[in-house]
Amino acid sequence: MNTVTLPDGPSLPRFVQGGVALAAPLWMMRRLRERYGSAFTINIPVFGEAVVISDPAEVKQLFMTSPELADILDINLGLVLGPNSFFAISGDAHKKQRKLLTPPFHGRRLRAYEAIIEEEAVREMAVWPEGREFATLGPMMRITLNAILRAVFGADGDELAELRTLLPAMVKLGSRLVALPIPRTDLGRWSPWGRAHAYRREYDAIIDRLIAAARQDPRLDERDDVLALMLQSQCDDGSGMSRDEISDQLLTLLTAGHETTATTLAWAVERLRRHPAVLRRLADEADADESQLREATILEVQRVRPVIDGTLRKVRVPGLRLGRWTLPEGQVVLVSIYLIHRDEALFPNARSFDPDRFVDARPDTYQWIPFGGGVRRCIGAAFAHMEMNVVLRTLLRDFTLEPTSERGERWHSRGVAYCPAKGGRAVVHRRAEERQSPDHAARAEAAA
Ligand code: HEM
Repeated sequence: MNTVTLPDGPSLPRFVQGGVALAAPLWMMRRLRERYGSAFTINIPVFGEAVVISDPAEVKQLFMTSPELADILDINLGLVLGPNSFFAISGDAHKKQRKLLTPPFHGRRLRAYEAIIEEEAVREMAVWPEGREFATLGPMMRITLNAILRAVFGADGDELAELRTLLPAMVKLGSRLVALPIPRTDLGRWSPWGRAHAYRREYDAIIDRLIAAARQDPRLDERDDVLALMLQSQCDDGSGMSRDEISDQLLTLLTAGHETTATTLAWAVERLRRHPAVLRRLADEADADESQLREATILEVQRVRPVIDGTLRKVRVPGLRLGRWTLPEGQVVLVSIYLIHRDEALFPNARSFDPDRFVDARPDTYQWIPFGGGVRRCIGAAFAHMEMNVVLRTLLRDFTLEPTSERGERWHSRGVAYCPAKGGRAVVHRRAEERQSPDHAARAEAAA
């Protein structure tokens, strides 16, 4: 039998380490990286002993390890999002769902969503105040929520309006419950779990109406939304997705995709206001209808401000060899996205914001990892990139963003994602009409 070898780490009691991890998680990661190197073991409540890694070779090895040997850590997400959620399934069930749901998020399908996203961005930006500072996180959240509801849920009319109100409250409560212990007894309808069940019943009723309407739609096969594709999708064995699978996965896509994309966009605004030379070049590029620097900027924002700071795996076999270590069955491993992105050996001048590092250079799959990696890599990565590209393009074409010499906004944890502490504050000025997005005026008028 292989002897277990774990990296060193602090010997402070679990509750002390837990307290620091709660109060200053990023500071703790930096300090431990300085003290112990690219791998260390921490001991915190909920996870127990967890090995943190940030060496690209070890990260690559873990991401490439078969899910039978190491897979995601199942926290309460299955209870919050449903037993058929990506975050609750593994093995063959996971493989089958990836196969069914990967096509809607790639290639030609993605281009079909661009118009919806631009429309949502123009509608939201039509009411932005001029010359007065405001936080962009709220508007970005509304854009990404509506984009997913329309492009993914295929929602329209009453259902769209109802989901717009219900889902933010439901997701907010859900992301709190993920970290809480599950009560053994029913605490009643006014308890957080009771409220979560009531939200879920309301949500399922709306989804049933959307599914019923889609099934009766004679032009279902011409539709591009993910729900329509789910209803028509089939595996090699001829099986498709059940109603419960569709309902759980739609909620999962929204929960995983809406806040992450919005917080990244708010960081983009925050970073760009502090880098006026890049901002000027981006505005010129948008006028020339090009996108190379903007695409590189998105990659760089995700490198310096990864909104998800780490991703977890759990070892499923005894004595798993991972680089220098031999891990026991049940060992929790945290890949620190935050630490790997600030590694000087991988990204010279790692702390500076420099989109040019990604112009003409694709990032390495195991060093630039804001979307995680391996068979669990974010299924919406290409969708998110396209969405951020369209929203930033609209912003740059329709407005000038005032630079600022203020200090950068601090990182603030919203539970799931990190956002700029002041919400990515902006001061904007509308640009001359002829330089704005081609159909800006018509859309803004319709939206108003
Ligand atoms: C900037 C935006 C986004 C970021 C930073 C992000 C980040 C992540 C990360 C770190 C993971 C875990 C990967 C791992 O464990 O290796 C993940 C998984 C996932 N993401 Fe995203 N995501 C974003 C946008 C989206 C969007 C737009 C969608 C869908 C519309 C989405 C759907 C998912 C799903 C379903 C999973 C689970 C995949 C699985 O377990 O197979 N994400 N994402």
